Amino acid sequence: MAPLVSLLVILLTVSLAESKTFWGDVAALKEFKNSVDTNSMTPGSCLSSWDFTLDPCDNLSGETFTCGFSCDAVVSGSGRVTELILDQAGYSGSLTSVSFNFPYLQTLELSGNYFSGPLPHSLSNLTRLTGLFLSANSFSGSIPASLGSMPLLEELLLDNNILNGSVPTSFNRLSRLKRLEIQQNKISGELPDLSPLENLNYLDASDNRISGPVPSSLPGSLAQISMRNNLMEGTLPESFRNLTSLEVIDLSHNKLNGSIPSFIFTHHPTPQQLTLSFNGFTSIDSPRYYSPSGLPSELISVDLSYNQIRGPLPLFMGLLPKLSALSLENNSFSVFGERKTDQNNGKIIRRFLQVVPRRH
Ligand SMILES: *[C@@H]1O[C@H](CO)[C@@H](O)[C@H](O)[C@H]1NC(C)=O
Ligand SMILES: *[C@@H]1O[C@H](CO)[C@@H](O)[C@H](O)[C@H]1NC(C)=O
Ligand SMILES: *[C@@H]1O[C@H](CO)[C@@H](O)[C@H](O)[C@H]1NC(C)=O
Ligand SMILES: *[C@@H]1O[C@H](CO)[C@@H](O)[C@H](O)[C@H]1NC(C)=O
Ligand SMILES: *[C@@H]1O[C@H](CO)[C@@H](O)[C@H](O)[C@H]1NC(C)=O
Ligand SMILES: *[C@@H]1O[C@H](CO)[C@@H](O)[C@H](O)[C@H]1NC(C)=O
Repeated sequence: MAPLVSLLVILLTVSLAESKTFWGDVAALKEFKNSVDTNSMTPGSCLSSWDFTLDPCDNLSGETFTCGFSCDAVVSGSGRVTELILDQAGYSGSLTSVSFNFPYLQTLELSGNYFSGPLPHSLSNLTRLTGLFLSANSFSGSIPASLGSMPLLEELLLDNNILNGSVPTSFNRLSRLKRLEIQQNKISGELPDLSPLENLNYLDASDNRISGPVPSSLPGSLAQISMRNNLMEGTLPESFRNLTSLEVIDLSHNKLNGSIPSFIFTHHPTPQQLTLSFNGFTSIDSPRYYSPSGLPSELISVDLSYNQIRGPLPLFMGLLPKLSALSLENNSFSVFGERKTDQNNGKIIRRFLQVVPRRH
Protein backbone atom coordinates (compact mmCIF):
# COMPACT_ATOMS: atom_id res chain seq x y z
CA MET A 1 0.00 0.00 0.00
CA ALA A 2 2.62 2.52 1.10
CA PRO A 3 4.83 2.08 -1.99
CA LEU A 4 1.79 2.47 -4.21
CA VAL A 5 0.85 5.74 -2.49
CA SER A 6 4.34 7.15 -2.85
CA LEU A 7 4.42 6.07 -6.49
CA LEU A 8 1.18 8.02 -7.02
CA VAL A 9 2.63 11.03 -5.24
CA ILE A 10 5.71 10.89 -7.47
CA LEU A 11 3.58 10.58 -10.59
CA LEU A 12 1.44 13.55 -9.54
CA THR A 13 4.45 15.67 -8.68
CA VAL A 14 6.11 14.80 -11.96
CA SER A 15 3.02 15.61 -13.99
CA LEU A 16 2.51 18.94 -12.20
CA ALA A 17 6.13 19.95 -12.62
CA GLU A 18 6.13 19.01 -16.28
CA SER A 19 2.82 20.53 -17.24
CA LYS A 20 4.02 22.29 -20.35
CA THR A 21 1.17 24.01 -22.09
CA PHE A 22 -0.72 22.14 -24.80
CA TRP A 23 0.46 23.58 -28.14
CA GLY A 24 -3.05 24.56 -29.22
CA ASP A 25 -3.57 26.63 -26.07
CA VAL A 26 -0.21 28.39 -26.60
CA ALA A 27 -1.31 29.24 -30.13
CA ALA A 28 -4.66 30.52 -28.86
CA LEU A 29 -2.99 32.70 -26.19
CA LYS A 30 -0.64 34.16 -28.82
CA GLU A 31 -3.51 34.83 -31.17
CA PHE A 32 -5.42 36.54 -28.38
CA LYS A 33 -2.49 38.76 -27.41
CA ASN A 34 -1.86 39.63 -31.08
CA SER A 35 -5.39 40.97 -31.47
CA VAL A 36 -5.01 43.43 -28.61
CA ASP A 37 -3.66 46.88 -29.55
CA THR A 38 0.03 46.88 -28.65
CA ASN A 39 0.02 50.42 -27.32
CA SER A 40 -2.78 49.56 -24.89
CA MET A 41 -0.57 46.99 -23.12
CA THR A 42 0.89 49.34 -20.57
CA PRO A 43 4.00 48.39 -18.56
CA GLY A 44 3.00 46.29 -15.58
CA SER A 45 -0.14 44.97 -17.25
CA CYS A 46 -0.74 41.23 -17.52
CA LEU A 47 -0.51 41.12 -21.30
CA SER A 48 2.74 43.10 -21.44
CA SER A 49 4.39 40.32 -19.42
CA TRP A 50 3.40 37.52 -21.78
CA ASP A 51 6.65 36.35 -23.43
CA PHE A 52 6.16 33.28 -25.59
CA THR A 53 9.86 32.36 -25.67
CA LEU A 54 8.93 30.60 -22.41
CA ASP A 55 6.17 28.13 -21.73
CA PRO A 56 3.01 29.90 -20.45
CA CYS A 57 1.58 27.36 -17.96
CA ASP A 58 5.04 26.40 -16.76
CA ASN A 59 6.07 30.01 -16.07
CA LEU A 60 2.76 31.27 -14.74
CA SER A 61 3.01 33.86 -11.93
CA GLY A 62 6.72 34.22 -12.57
CA GLU A 63 8.36 37.24 -14.14
CA THR A 64 6.84 36.41 -17.48
CA PHE A 65 3.15 35.56 -17.56
CA THR A 66 2.63 37.43 -14.30
CA CYS A 67 -1.15 37.21 -14.63
CA GLY A 68 -4.10 36.98 -16.99
CA PHE A 69 -4.86 33.27 -17.11
CA SER A 70 -4.63 30.02 -15.19
CA CYS A 71 -3.97 26.42 -16.12
CA ASP A 72 -5.84 24.28 -13.60
CA ALA A 73 -6.25 21.25 -15.80
CA VAL A 74 -3.58 18.76 -16.87
CA VAL A 75 -4.79 16.55 -19.70
CA SER A 76 -2.53 13.82 -21.10
CA GLY A 77 0.41 15.51 -19.41
CA SER A 78 -0.23 18.96 -20.92
CA GLY A 79 -1.33 22.06 -19.06
CA ARG A 80 -4.62 23.46 -20.32
CA VAL A 81 -5.84 27.02 -19.95
CA THR A 82 -8.92 27.05 -17.73
CA GLU A 83 -9.33 30.77 -17.03
CA LEU A 84 -8.59 33.90 -19.01
CA ILE A 85 -9.04 36.76 -16.54
CA LEU A 86 -7.54 40.03 -17.69
CA ASP A 87 -6.72 43.01 -15.55
CA GLN A 88 -8.43 46.35 -16.24
CA ALA A 89 -5.39 47.88 -17.85
CA GLY A 90 -7.25 49.79 -20.55
CA TYR A 91 -6.74 47.20 -23.30
CA SER A 92 -8.31 47.99 -26.63
CA GLY A 93 -8.79 46.24 -29.97
CA SER A 94 -11.40 44.20 -31.74
CA LEU A 95 -11.73 40.57 -30.73
CA THR A 96 -14.25 39.74 -33.44
CA SER A 97 -12.02 37.36 -35.38
CA VAL A 98 -10.21 35.75 -32.42
CA SER A 99 -10.80 31.99 -32.43
CA PHE A 100 -10.89 31.52 -28.62
CA ASN A 101 -9.79 27.97 -29.19
CA PHE A 102 -9.54 27.05 -25.49
CA PRO A 103 -11.59 23.88 -25.08
CA TYR A 104 -10.98 23.74 -21.30
CA LEU A 105 -11.81 27.36 -20.54
CA GLN A 106 -14.27 27.83 -17.66
CA THR A 107 -14.01 31.58 -17.07
CA LEU A 108 -13.50 34.40 -19.55
CA GLU A 109 -13.30 37.81 -17.93
CA LEU A 110 -12.38 40.90 -19.94
CA SER A 111 -14.48 43.49 -18.08
CA GLY A 112 -13.52 47.13 -17.67
CA ASN A 113 -11.40 47.60 -20.78
CA TYR A 114 -11.96 49.22 -24.18
CA PHE A 115 -12.48 46.15 -26.35
CA SER A 116 -14.66 46.97 -29.31
CA GLY A 117 -16.30 45.48 -32.37
CA PRO A 118 -18.93 42.75 -32.53
CA LEU A 119 -18.76 39.83 -30.10
CA PRO A 120 -16.94 36.88 -31.70
CA HIS A 121 -19.11 33.94 -32.77
CA SER A 122 -16.27 31.65 -31.75
CA LEU A 123 -17.22 32.17 -28.08
CA SER A 124 -19.84 29.47 -28.64
CA ASN A 125 -17.02 26.93 -28.98
CA LEU A 126 -16.27 27.42 -25.28
CA THR A 127 -18.54 24.60 -24.23
CA ARG A 128 -17.06 24.28 -20.72
CA LEU A 129 -17.52 27.96 -19.90
CA THR A 130 -19.40 28.73 -16.68
CA GLY A 131 -18.70 32.47 -16.51
CA LEU A 132 -18.52 35.03 -19.33
CA PHE A 133 -17.77 38.53 -18.10
CA LEU A 134 -17.53 41.21 -20.78
CA SER A 135 -18.99 44.15 -18.83
CA ALA A 136 -17.94 47.75 -19.38
CA ASN A 137 -16.21 47.60 -22.74
CA SER A 138 -17.24 48.98 -26.14
CA PHE A 139 -18.55 45.82 -27.75
CA SER A 140 -21.12 46.67 -30.42
CA GLY A 141 -23.46 45.00 -32.88
CA SER A 142 -26.00 42.38 -31.91
CA ILE A 143 -25.67 39.55 -29.41
CA PRO A 144 -24.72 36.37 -31.30
CA ALA A 145 -27.41 33.70 -31.09
CA SER A 146 -24.60 31.18 -30.73
CA LEU A 147 -24.05 32.36 -27.13
CA GLY A 148 -27.15 30.32 -26.32
CA SER A 149 -25.21 27.12 -27.00
CA MET A 150 -22.93 27.22 -23.96
CA PRO A 151 -24.53 24.45 -21.92
CA LEU A 152 -22.73 25.08 -18.60
CA LEU A 153 -22.96 28.86 -18.50
CA GLU A 154 -24.04 30.17 -15.09
CA GLU A 155 -23.13 33.84 -15.30
CA LEU A 156 -23.41 36.01 -18.42
CA LEU A 157 -22.45 39.67 -18.02
CA LEU A 158 -22.64 41.83 -21.14
CA ASP A 159 -23.67 45.06 -19.41
CA ASN A 160 -22.33 48.52 -20.18
CA ASN A 161 -21.46 48.05 -23.82
CA ILE A 162 -23.16 49.33 -26.97
CA LEU A 163 -24.83 46.09 -28.01
CA ASN A 164 -28.00 46.44 -30.05
CA GLY A 165 -30.64 44.23 -31.67
CA SER A 166 -32.76 41.92 -29.55
CA VAL A 167 -31.89 39.26 -27.00
CA PRO A 168 -31.58 36.02 -29.00
CA THR A 169 -34.29 33.41 -28.51
CA SER A 170 -31.51 30.86 -28.10
CA PHE A 171 -30.92 32.25 -24.59
CA ASN A 172 -33.79 30.04 -23.46
CA ARG A 173 -31.38 27.10 -23.80
CA LEU A 174 -29.02 28.41 -21.09
CA SER A 175 -30.59 26.14 -18.52
CA ARG A 176 -27.83 26.56 -15.91
CA LEU A 177 -27.86 30.36 -16.06
CA LYS A 178 -28.16 32.06 -12.67
CA ARG A 179 -27.23 35.62 -13.49
CA LEU A 180 -27.95 37.61 -16.64
CA GLU A 181 -26.79 41.21 -16.86
CA ILE A 182 -27.37 43.11 -20.09
CA GLN A 183 -28.09 46.55 -18.63
CA GLN A 184 -26.76 49.75 -20.24
CA ASN A 185 -26.75 48.74 -23.87
CA LYS A 186 -28.98 49.58 -26.83
CA ILE A 187 -30.90 46.35 -26.82
CA SER A 188 -34.36 46.56 -28.39
CA GLY A 189 -37.30 44.28 -29.13
CA GLU A 190 -39.04 42.06 -26.63
CA LEU A 191 -37.27 39.65 -24.32
CA PRO A 192 -37.63 36.01 -25.42
CA ASP A 193 -39.43 33.51 -23.20
CA LEU A 194 -36.96 32.96 -20.38
CA SER A 195 -39.14 30.57 -18.39
CA PRO A 196 -36.94 27.52 -19.26
CA LEU A 197 -34.07 29.12 -17.30
CA GLU A 198 -35.00 27.33 -14.13
CA ASN A 199 -31.94 28.54 -12.24
CA LEU A 200 -32.08 32.21 -13.16
CA ASN A 201 -32.26 34.35 -10.05
CA TYR A 202 -30.87 37.70 -11.16
CA LEU A 203 -31.93 39.57 -14.29
CA ASP A 204 -30.82 43.11 -15.02
CA ALA A 205 -31.89 44.50 -18.39
CA SER A 206 -32.18 48.14 -17.32
CA ASP A 207 -31.26 51.11 -19.50
CA ASN A 208 -32.00 49.64 -22.90
CA ARG A 209 -34.79 50.04 -25.45
CA ILE A 210 -36.70 46.90 -24.68
CA SER A 211 -40.32 47.20 -25.80
CA GLY A 212 -43.51 45.20 -25.61
CA PRO A 213 -45.25 44.03 -22.45
CA VAL A 214 -43.49 43.12 -19.20
CA PRO A 215 -42.46 39.49 -19.84
CA SER A 216 -45.21 37.25 -18.52
CA SER A 217 -43.23 34.04 -18.64
CA LEU A 218 -40.33 34.29 -16.26
CA PRO A 219 -38.76 31.46 -14.27
CA GLY A 220 -40.06 30.91 -10.75
CA SER A 221 -36.45 30.99 -9.49
CA LEU A 222 -36.15 34.72 -10.15
CA ALA A 223 -35.23 36.74 -7.04
CA GLN A 224 -34.44 40.06 -8.64
CA ILE A 225 -35.70 41.68 -11.83
CA SER A 226 -34.56 45.08 -12.94
CA MET A 227 -35.84 46.45 -16.23
CA ARG A 228 -35.67 50.13 -15.36
CA ASN A 229 -35.60 52.69 -18.15
CA ASN A 230 -36.91 50.78 -21.14
CA LEU A 231 -39.94 51.19 -23.40
CA MET A 232 -42.24 48.54 -21.98
CA GLU A 233 -46.01 49.02 -22.14
CA GLY A 234 -49.07 47.46 -20.59
CA THR A 235 -49.54 46.56 -16.98
CA LEU A 236 -47.93 44.33 -14.39
CA PRO A 237 -48.82 40.79 -15.53
CA GLU A 238 -50.94 38.53 -13.37
CA SER A 239 -48.26 35.86 -13.81
CA PHE A 240 -46.06 37.71 -11.30
CA ARG A 241 -48.20 36.00 -8.67
CA ASN A 242 -46.33 32.83 -9.49
CA LEU A 243 -42.87 34.33 -8.98
CA THR A 244 -42.69 33.36 -5.35
CA SER A 245 -38.92 33.91 -5.00
CA LEU A 246 -39.06 37.50 -6.17
CA GLU A 247 -37.54 39.96 -3.69
CA VAL A 248 -36.73 43.00 -5.81
CA ILE A 249 -38.76 44.43 -8.69
CA ASP A 250 -37.64 47.58 -10.49
CA LEU A 251 -39.71 48.45 -13.56
CA SER A 252 -39.44 52.21 -13.16
CA HIS A 253 -39.09 54.59 -16.12
CA ASN A 254 -41.17 52.63 -18.60
CA LYS A 255 -44.60 53.26 -20.13
CA LEU A 256 -46.61 50.91 -17.94
CA ASN A 257 -50.23 51.86 -17.30
CA GLY A 258 -53.51 50.58 -15.94
CA SER A 259 -53.99 49.47 -12.37
CA ILE A 260 -51.31 48.17 -10.01
CA PRO A 261 -52.69 44.80 -8.91
CA SER A 262 -53.21 44.23 -5.19
CA PHE A 263 -51.48 40.84 -5.12
CA ILE A 264 -48.13 42.56 -5.49
CA PHE A 265 -48.66 44.14 -2.07
CA THR A 266 -50.28 41.31 -0.20
CA HIS A 267 -50.02 37.96 -2.00
CA HIS A 268 -47.62 36.10 0.25
CA PRO A 269 -44.65 35.94 -0.30
CA THR A 270 -44.54 39.48 -1.65
CA PRO A 271 -41.34 41.16 -2.85
CA GLN A 272 -39.38 43.29 -0.39
CA GLN A 273 -38.70 46.12 -2.77
CA LEU A 274 -41.12 47.41 -5.40
CA THR A 275 -40.15 50.30 -7.67
CA LEU A 276 -42.70 51.35 -10.27
CA SER A 277 -42.00 55.08 -10.40
CA PHE A 278 -42.04 57.10 -13.63
CA ASN A 279 -44.69 55.11 -15.44
CA GLY A 280 -48.29 55.82 -16.40
CA PHE A 281 -50.17 53.79 -13.79
CA THR A 282 -53.56 55.32 -13.09
CA SER A 283 -54.84 53.39 -10.09
CA ILE A 284 -53.99 51.04 -7.26
CA ASP A 285 -56.09 47.98 -6.77
CA SER A 286 -56.54 47.99 -2.98
CA PRO A 287 -57.01 44.61 -1.35
CA ARG A 288 -60.72 44.14 -0.74
CA TYR A 289 -60.65 42.60 2.67
CA TYR A 290 -57.97 43.08 5.21
CA SER A 291 -57.65 42.90 8.91
CA PRO A 292 -56.71 46.21 10.56
CA SER A 293 -54.12 44.27 12.52
CA GLY A 294 -51.88 43.87 9.48
CA LEU A 295 -51.38 42.32 6.08
CA PRO A 296 -49.17 39.39 5.10
CA SER A 297 -46.45 41.27 3.28
CA GLU A 298 -42.67 41.35 3.15
CA LEU A 299 -42.54 44.77 1.50
CA ILE A 300 -39.94 47.10 2.99
CA SER A 301 -39.81 49.72 0.29
CA VAL A 302 -42.43 50.86 -2.25
CA ASP A 303 -41.89 53.61 -4.80
CA LEU A 304 -44.92 54.57 -6.90
CA SER A 305 -43.94 58.19 -7.42
CA TYR A 306 -44.33 59.97 -10.76
CA ASN A 307 -47.33 58.10 -12.10
CA GLN A 308 -50.87 59.34 -12.68
CA ILE A 309 -52.52 57.45 -9.87
CA ARG A 310 -55.95 58.82 -8.90
CA GLY A 311 -58.29 57.97 -6.11
CA PRO A 312 -57.90 57.86 -2.36
CA LEU A 313 -54.55 57.38 -0.70
CA PRO A 314 -53.78 53.67 -0.38
CA LEU A 315 -54.20 53.65 3.40
CA PHE A 316 -53.88 49.86 3.50
CA MET A 317 -50.15 50.40 3.05
CA GLY A 318 -50.11 51.62 6.61
CA LEU A 319 -50.78 48.01 7.53
CA LEU A 320 -47.85 46.46 5.69
CA PRO A 321 -45.89 45.34 8.74
CA LYS A 322 -42.34 45.82 7.44
CA LEU A 323 -42.82 48.86 5.21
CA SER A 324 -40.32 51.57 6.05
CA ALA A 325 -40.13 53.64 2.86
CA LEU A 326 -43.05 54.71 0.71
CA SER A 327 -42.91 57.25 -2.13
CA LEU A 328 -46.15 58.46 -3.64
CA GLU A 329 -45.25 61.95 -4.81
CA ASN A 330 -46.35 63.41 -8.10
CA ASN A 331 -49.56 61.45 -8.48
CA SER A 332 -53.16 62.63 -8.33
CA PHE A 333 -54.39 61.19 -5.06
CA SER A 334 -57.38 62.62 -3.28
CA VAL A 335 -56.30 62.89 0.31
CA PHE A 336 -59.31 61.54 2.15
CA GLY A 337 -62.25 59.51 1.08
CA GLU A 338 -61.44 55.89 1.75
CA ARG A 339 -63.48 54.07 4.41
CA LYS A 340 -64.12 57.24 6.38
CA THR A 341 -66.46 55.39 8.65
CA ASP A 342 -63.99 52.67 9.54
CA GLN A 343 -63.33 52.99 13.25
CA ASN A 344 -59.76 51.81 12.74
CA ASN A 345 -58.99 54.51 10.23
CA GLY A 346 -57.40 56.76 12.81
CA LYS A 347 -54.85 54.10 13.70
CA ILE A 348 -54.22 53.20 10.05
CA ILE A 349 -53.74 56.82 9.04
CA ARG A 350 -51.31 57.40 11.94
CA ARG A 351 -49.28 54.37 10.87
CA PHE A 352 -49.50 55.45 7.19
CA LEU A 353 -48.16 58.89 8.04
CA GLN A 354 -45.23 57.27 9.84
CA VAL A 355 -44.14 55.61 6.59
CA VAL A 356 -44.80 58.45 4.20
CA PRO A 357 -42.20 61.13 4.78
CA ARG A 358 -43.80 64.45 5.69
CA ARG A 359 -43.45 67.14 3.02
CA HIS A 360 -43.26 70.88 3.66
C1 LIG B 1 9.79 28.54 -17.54
O1 LIG B 1 9.38 27.39 -18.28
C2 LIG B 1 10.48 26.59 -18.66
C3 LIG B 1 9.90 25.51 -19.55
O2 LIG B 1 9.31 26.10 -20.63
C4 LIG B 1 11.15 26.01 -17.44
O3 LIG B 1 12.25 25.21 -17.81
C5 LIG B 1 11.62 27.16 -16.56
O4 LIG B 1 12.12 26.67 -15.35
C6 LIG B 1 10.49 28.12 -16.27
N1 LIG B 1 11.02 29.30 -15.63
C7 LIG B 1 10.56 29.78 -14.50
C8 LIG B 1 11.20 31.01 -13.98
O5 LIG B 1 9.66 29.24 -13.88
C1 LIG C 1 -15.34 26.09 -33.49
O1 LIG C 1 -14.24 25.22 -33.50
C2 LIG C 1 -14.16 24.42 -34.66
C3 LIG C 1 -12.99 23.45 -34.49
O2 LIG C 1 -11.88 24.14 -33.99
C4 LIG C 1 -13.97 25.31 -35.88
O3 LIG C 1 -13.90 24.55 -37.06
C5 LIG C 1 -15.15 26.27 -35.96
O4 LIG C 1 -14.95 27.17 -37.01
C6 LIG C 1 -15.30 27.03 -34.66
N1 LIG C 1 -16.51 27.79 -34.69
C7 LIG C 1 -16.51 29.10 -34.64
C8 LIG C 1 -17.84 29.77 -34.68
O5 LIG C 1 -15.49 29.74 -34.55
C1 LIG D 1 -26.43 47.88 -34.50
O1 LIG D 1 -25.31 48.70 -34.56
C2 LIG D 1 -24.56 48.56 -35.75
C3 LIG D 1 -23.33 49.41 -35.60
O2 LIG D 1 -22.61 49.02 -34.47
C4 LIG D 1 -25.39 48.96 -36.94
O3 LIG D 1 -24.67 48.78 -38.13
C5 LIG D 1 -26.65 48.12 -36.98
O4 LIG D 1 -27.51 48.57 -38.01
C6 LIG D 1 -27.39 48.21 -35.65
N1 LIG D 1 -28.47 47.25 -35.66
C7 LIG D 1 -29.65 47.51 -35.11
C8 LIG D 1 -30.66 46.41 -35.16
O5 LIG D 1 -29.91 48.58 -34.58
C1 LIG E 1 -49.25 30.00 -12.16
O1 LIG E 1 -48.74 28.68 -12.13
C2 LIG E 1 -49.73 27.70 -12.24
C3 LIG E 1 -49.08 26.36 -12.01
O2 LIG E 1 -47.88 26.27 -12.71
C4 LIG E 1 -50.36 27.81 -13.61
O3 LIG E 1 -51.38 26.84 -13.77
C5 LIG E 1 -50.99 29.20 -13.75
O4 LIG E 1 -51.50 29.36 -15.06
C6 LIG E 1 -49.97 30.26 -13.48
N1 LIG E 1 -50.65 31.53 -13.42
C7 LIG E 1 -50.28 32.55 -14.16
C8 LIG E 1 -51.10 33.78 -14.01
O5 LIG E 1 -49.31 32.51 -14.92
C1 LIG F 1 -52.14 51.38 -21.81
O1 LIG F 1 -51.32 51.76 -22.91
C2 LIG F 1 -51.62 51.08 -24.10
C3 LIG F 1 -50.64 51.52 -25.15
O2 LIG F 1 -49.40 51.78 -24.59
C4 LIG F 1 -53.03 51.37 -24.53
O3 LIG F 1 -53.34 50.63 -25.69
C5 LIG F 1 -53.99 51.00 -23.42
O4 LIG F 1 -55.29 51.40 -23.77
C6 LIG F 1 -53.60 51.67 -22.14
N1 LIG F 1 -54.44 51.14 -21.06
C7 LIG F 1 -54.95 51.92 -20.13
C8 LIG F 1 -55.78 51.22 -19.13
O5 LIG F 1 -54.74 53.12 -20.09
C1 LIG G 1 -45.11 65.66 -12.11
O1 LIG G 1 -44.87 64.93 -13.30
C2 LIG G 1 -45.27 65.59 -14.48
C3 LIG G 1 -45.03 64.65 -15.62
O2 LIG G 1 -45.43 63.37 -15.27
C4 LIG G 1 -44.53 66.89 -14.63
O3 LIG G 1 -45.01 67.59 -15.76
C5 LIG G 1 -44.70 67.74 -13.38
O4 LIG G 1 -43.89 68.86 -13.46
C6 LIG G 1 -44.34 66.94 -12.15
N1 LIG G 1 -44.62 67.73 -10.95
C7 LIG G 1 -43.73 67.93 -10.02
C8 LIG G 1 -44.22 68.69 -8.84
O5 LIG G 1 -42.60 67.51 -10.07
